[in-house]
Amino acid sequence: MSQERPWKGGFVVFEGIDGSGTTTQCRMLAERVETTGRETWTTSEPTRGPVGRLLRDILAGRTAAAPETIAYLFAADRSDHLHGSNGIIDRLERGELVVCDRYKYSSLAYQSVENDCGLVSDLNRRFADPDIVFFVDLPASVAEQRIADRPLREIYERTEFQEQVRSRYLEVLTNVGRNVRVEILDGTEPQAAIAEKIWLLLGETSIL
Ligand code: TYD
Repeated sequence: MSQERPWKGGFVVFEGIDGSGTTTQCRMLAERVETTGRETWTTSEPTRGPVGRLLRDILAGRTAAAPETIAYLFAADRSDHLHGSNGIIDRLERGELVVCDRYKYSSLAYQSVENDCGLVSDLNRRFADPDIVFFVDLPASVAEQRIADRPLREIYERTEFQEQVRSRYLEVLTNVGRNVRVEILDGTEPQAAIAEKIWLLLGETSIL
């Protein structure tokens, strides 16, 4: 696998429905990797860039946009994230470890609920494959309890929608690129136990 990677760095992606705990896992992994001295960049989508900020307004319900427009915007934000100066590709080429909270699999799962799947996969087809995807799996009903006390709800934070996203994820992740490793983790386990499993799984690879 390592010989086929086009860059020196490692590209690790976390995915899951809302409330699954991907942000916590990204942080825990990055903290642990940093103790080894490896240069690590923790990042996320939607990004903090101009398109990412527009997406945050749309997700919060402050700005309206059609589902197709949202799919295009996530793709534009991703393109910027990958190809912008000091973005994902630059860092991978420099040999850094990139830990990304959500990536193209989020689009394939979320945007395909309200759009034609063909459109969403066309928009994301040319984006680089990561080395590994950790899917933190959690039933939508459990995720709902976790986010129940959030004062503001984003447009996708409805249990029925999240249940559809979860089943799309499970479908999408059976059909990733040839060199992408997918690991499905039980998101109901304590965060520390999940983090330990991730560490052991990464230890089996040449990514770290
Ligand atoms: P996230 O930042 O993980 O959620 P929060 O900060 O509210 O915990 O993601 C924001 C939302 O964006 C989440 O509902 C998933 C959605 N999303 C998509 O629909 N498509 C995408 O391509 C990405 C990256 C995120």
